[in-house]
Amino acid sequence: MSTGTTVGIHDLSFATTEFVLPHTALAEYNGTPIGKYHTGIGQRSMSVPAADEDIVTLGAAAAAPIVARHGADGIRTLVFATESSIDQAKAAGVYVHSLLGLPSATRVVELKQACYGATAALQFALGLIHRDPSQKVLVVASDVSKYELDSPGEATQGAAAVAMLVTADPALVRIEDPSGLFTADVMDFWRPNYRDAALVDGQESIGAYLQAVQGTWKDYSEQGGRPLEDFSAFCYHQPFTKMAYKAHRHLLNSAGHDTDEAVVERALGRTTGYNAVIGNSYTASVYLGLAALLDGAEDLDGQTVGFLSYGSGSVAEFFAGTVVPGYREHLRTEAHRAAIERRQPIGYDRYRELHEWGFPTDGGDHPTPAGTTGPFRLAGIGGHKRIYEKR
Ligand code: HMG
Repeated sequence: MSTGTTVGIHDLSFATTEFVLPHTALAEYNGTPIGKYHTGIGQRSMSVPAADEDIVTLGAAAAAPIVARHGADGIRTLVFATESSIDQAKAAGVYVHSLLGLPSATRVVELKQACYGATAALQFALGLIHRDPSQKVLVVASDVSKYELDSPGEATQGAAAVAMLVTADPALVRIEDPSGLFTADVMDFWRPNYRDAALVDGQESIGAYLQAVQGTWKDYSEQGGRPLEDFSAFCYHQPFTKMAYKAHRHLLNSAGHDTDEAVVERALGRTTGYNAVIGNSYTASVYLGLAALLDGAEDLDGQTVGFLSYGSGSVAEFFAGTVVPGYREHLRTEAHRAAIERRQPIGYDRYRELHEWGFPTDGGDHPTPAGTTGPFRLAGIGGHKRIYEKR
């Protein structure tokens, strides 16, 4: 039941890694024609974490500017969404809470359902704010996407974190009811606890995503959602940017609309700029799509945006948001572009070394090799405990 309060995204900030591997370097190593990466999957480069970066350091780096701008007052909940969890028990958000110096009177929890987790976190946040509009919720979506070397998924790796301050009377995007929901028990992509690289059936995962798009749209329509004509852009989960195009064509077809390519490009083209150069950031991906859209040249005052969040396994949700007039004064466009531009390009050999790097699991003291020039680092592990530091 709606309380009549407008709720949504008040601030949004993202961070990505120290290093970047251009797809040209991967293509040169494995002999793939570059057109398959640039045009076929729509990816240019992938963010690669340094050994001393992980979901916590990225998440803290994304959230720190939000706390610097708004202070910690009123933040009583921090929800950390990830599928590249670093601990089976402790929420990664507790480390972020500590690195950001948030008050002890805070609720912190980690949520997981593949790439869908951040949307669950956002919906959780909206519910809390409907209950008490004076509260603010910090949602952090942070992931490192890792597949086996030399596998088809390798070209779709990436890493980033998006932090969002969710409040009543938001400055960026008002999130609406209803949502369209869809769940199906499929094994398209998964990561057993003993592995750090995900397992995936690539073609099945594409089919599962499309099935979920159709299911969420059907439910959204049955719940009394807006007609397609109301939407000026769509932010999809983007495991690779061309997936958004496949998904949107499928949505249009299943809703009985033409798939005119100019219409599809108009709906999606403004949402892919960050994902194309960062790669799959799992939970953060759909909100990087929103960041690209808001940071773009066009004025979106009062326009309606569709969000399609998909997490393998699978759970999906479709919902609408309206861009708040005046939102441009609250953007972080320069900082976002700087986060992308500050990455140091690396060659294939260095990327491979970083991919294969991991801590010994003997419980000894193991400092992490220096790498990041970002604001937070994973200094090492000792006694099986991760040690973070603010630089
Ligand atoms: P693949 O099977 O090696 O590639 O890997 P392909 O043969 O399907 O080719 C890809 C596209 O490139 C095709 O286009 C080719 O035609 C084209 P399409 O037919 O699909 O439109 N192509 C070329 N284009 C131009 N010039 C060329 C050329 N050669 C080929 N020379 C696959 C692709 C996506 C399967 C692989 O990268 C993979 O396994 N990725 C990981 C899984 C994934 O991203 N799945 C997406 C849906 S599931 C999801 O989104 C959830 C996820 O984020 C996880 C989560 O929820 O937690 C993954």
